[in-house]
Amino acid sequence: MTGRTAADVRMTTGLPGWCGNESLAGKADAALRKLHEKSPELSRVLADVPVEQALAAFARYDVHAGYNQLGLDLSKLCSGLVARHGEPLALHWGLAMLATLIDEHERRWRESALDPELEPGFIDSFHRILTAVARGGARSLMPDTDAFAKELAICLYRLIPAGGQLIDPGSAVPRRLVARRPTLETLSAARYMLFNAGGFAPFAAFHSNLFQRHWFTPAGWEYAFQCMSAVFRSFPTLKGLTGSSWFFDPALRDISPELAFVREIPRRWGAVFVHVRPDRNASSDSLLLSRKRRELFEAGKYVPQVHAFLVSKRDILARAAAGR
Ligand SMILES: CC(C)(COP(=O)(O)OP(=O)(O)OC[C@H]1O[C@@H](n2cnc3c(N)ncnc32)[C@H](O)[C@@H]1OP(=O)(O)O)[C@@H](O)C(=O)NCCC(=O)NCCS
Repeated sequence: MTGRTAADVRMTTGLPGWCGNESLAGKADAALRKLHEKSPELSRVLADVPVEQALAAFARYDVHAGYNQLGLDLSKLCSGLVARHGEPLALHWGLAMLATLIDEHERRWRESALDPELEPGFIDSFHRILTAVARGGARSLMPDTDAFAKELAICLYRLIPAGGQLIDPGSAVPRRLVARRPTLETLSAARYMLFNAGGFAPFAAFHSNLFQRHWFTPAGWEYAFQCMSAVFRSFPTLKGLTGSSWFFDPALRDISPELAFVREIPRRWGAVFVHVRPDRNASSDSLLLSRKRRELFEAGKYVPQVHAFLVSKRDILARAAAGR
């Protein structure tokens, strides 16, 4: 296997707080011990619903679909746990499941067939997750939340932590995105998908992780793109990378200039953009953290618009080769 070693990754991430090269030895065990001290009834819940039994359900994971397939099983599991044991113990049970998976990382990693260059990203996330486990977590990590599904998907190696973004190798670009009303944008995106990417699936997709917001920066996104060569080595049939969000809206150039890099960086790696849909009720989280966008929305001067970027494996690898 050619590719960077863990030591090179340590030198090149430059991301503040990165700990992908720090040993995990004994950390999962210690976090679980602390969790049990905080939550003396947890052993009873773990005996009632063994972690291994729940994990067996996740073994049916469809590699051709996204991480959000975990949501349904998790929400059933969570409502059962809450009904029988209450919310705090359901939260702690979920944390115990994450720590159990991390505790077995060395053995599971050898079986994962993922590129070695991706391992430090997982180790970094495992440190972060174990810190949350030892603290007993928070409501935002209940097993039925999207945040928990992402953490579980990381522990199952289904979402790949890559600095400013998580990478889901089980995605695809919906054909309807480019096969609707013909415009210059959709025609050029269709040409790109057919003749450059070579098709619409399978594609990797970017997802944002609330707990890695501090790397939602140009450096964090540049690093995510740099990880793509190792992602393509791990999943050789992938045709490219996509992402879809309110923050790819070109109108944000004026409204939220601090976000300009989220279009600029994919474009530098070769991406084309396509409009997906208006988000008239602002349900896409665009207003969550910005008073300015909220005020403009309330004044009828801003409607969030979801846009997607599409970039082929060929373009990403060409740029990665040029940058070496
Ligand atoms: C996506 C996200 C991480 C981007 O965060 P961000 O880089 O801070 O950029 P935002 O434009 O959202 O910033 C929010 C506020 O912090 C301010 N801000 C951002 N960076 C700042 C900086 N370096 N210094 C001072 N203020 C800053 C912004 O000005 C903005 O406030 P305002 O619009 O009222 O002026 C964040 O908006 C988020 O977590 N949203 C909710 C979840 C979400 O949308 N996920 C994606 C789903 S596809």
